[in-house]
Amino acid sequence: MGLLSGKATCNTHGQDSSYFLGWQEYEKNPYDEVQNPTGIIQMGLAENQLSFDLLESWLDRNPDAAGFKRDGQSIFRELALFQDYHGLPAFKKALVEFMSEIRGNKVTFDTSKIVLTAGATSANETLMFCLAEPGEAFLLPTPYYPGFDRDLKWRTGVEIVPIQCTSLNGFQITETAIEEAYQLAQKRHLKVKGVLVTNPSNPLGTTMSRNELNLLVNIITEKNIHLISDEIYSGTVFSSPGFVSIMEILKDRNCENTQVWNRVHIVYSLSKDLGLPGFRVGAIYSNDDMVVAAATKMSSFGLVSSQTQYLLSALLSDKKFTQNYISENKKRLKQRHRKLVSGLEKAGISCLKSNAGLFCWVDMRHLLRSNTFEAEMELWKKIVYDVKLNISPGSSCHCTEPGWFRVCFANMSEDTLKLSMQRLKAFVDSITTTLHNQSNHQSIKNSRRRSLTKWVFRLSFDDRVTGER
Ligand SMILES: Cc1ncc(COP(=O)(O)O)c(C=O)c1O
Repeated sequence: MGLLSGKATCNTHGQDSSYFLGWQEYEKNPYDEVQNPTGIIQMGLAENQLSFDLLESWLDRNPDAAGFKRDGQSIFRELALFQDYHGLPAFKKALVEFMSEIRGNKVTFDTSKIVLTAGATSANETLMFCLAEPGEAFLLPTPYYPGFDRDLKWRTGVEIVPIQCTSLNGFQITETAIEEAYQLAQKRHLKVKGVLVTNPSNPLGTTMSRNELNLLVNIITEKNIHLISDEIYSGTVFSSPGFVSIMEILKDRNCENTQVWNRVHIVYSLSKDLGLPGFRVGAIYSNDDMVVAAATKMSSFGLVSSQTQYLLSALLSDKKFTQNYISENKKRLKQRHRKLVSGLEKAGISCLKSNAGLFCWVDMRHLLRSNTFEAEMELWKKIVYDVKLNISPGSSCHCTEPGWFRVCFANMSEDTLKLSMQRLKAFVDSITTTLHNQSNHQSIKNSRRRSLTKWVFRLSFDDRVTGER
């Protein structure tokens, strides 16, 4: 132990969070329709498995790309030797065009401003290394993606200060909440270097409004700080209001070539929109040349492999494919989201109205024994160990109100989702019956106590009256 570094032995990685503990429990007893039908169903993993068939049939139609051939000739040697941190130009071009397409071509992206990274995880950490010193802070609206404690803080030494959002306004960001977070950071003697948001939000499954985005631009202008917009879920917006990228707001406000323009950075990845987290493809998009240059050098520690770039440049430059994929994927997400919401409704559970993402932000406050985080953990443990569903408690996302849970819906089959909802309904019915019985029992006890009190009172009154007589 003494021979290891502080970093290797400190526990700020966040692996003890219930978010990761739930995954560990799932690993010990994973549900399988045939092999383990009573196992734990994984609903804590934001994976998109709904459109694999579209990717697979594209691969069948394009054996050259999958076999690393160009015009029928093998390019195996070329790919095996390629390890430039600037990436394959054809891939960067295809990626920025895909990003524009997802944003309805309202904004365009320049290949010279993009840095490829091994997923958004690496992109977020790299940006922290570029924008902040250890001990400086970024403000993040709560609830936020639990992985951020690891990605933003662990190796960089950067601090996260929460912008506390509440259910009162659907967890939207307000000027007061940002100002309070800023003051809190100052009280803790932390220099604030920026704000980081996820749009669409993980875990809320909602897109940010133009008002919120404008507010963010105002704040970073006024405070002279950075804004990182993690837009990893931008292609998952399945209902109105549509997705508005921070880039669109900057363009609308004519911010090009202003100082603010250089302080806004976008994080993207193909992990969610294309459902390829295992391919490890992410990107930083920045208008600041210095950030692009520094991040490019740092990307040596997490490059995207040349085979992956080659394959995906062929896939993403097939416009007929990308157009169909984007719309079909959204349609499937919308249907699946509806199935989850109606399954929850049948169990008497509601959730925050959402229009994006691979999850719902579910309100189980009425199932808590008390309005505390202890009660939230108690309920979560019952759901994981007894109901056998791994969902993520709001506390793991730093939510300030107990009783909210993130429930994922796109990483399983429709039958598995149906089963999960049956399990949840049976559980809710059982605890509401218990609660009902308890309250009946309590009200019988109360009414007996009231009758007894009345009787004693009457007796003593009669006594008194008799005595007084
Ligand atoms: C908001 C957000 N950012 C980043 C990531 C990490 O993504 P990647 O798999 O591309 O590293 C995730 C993954 O869940 C996420 O939800």
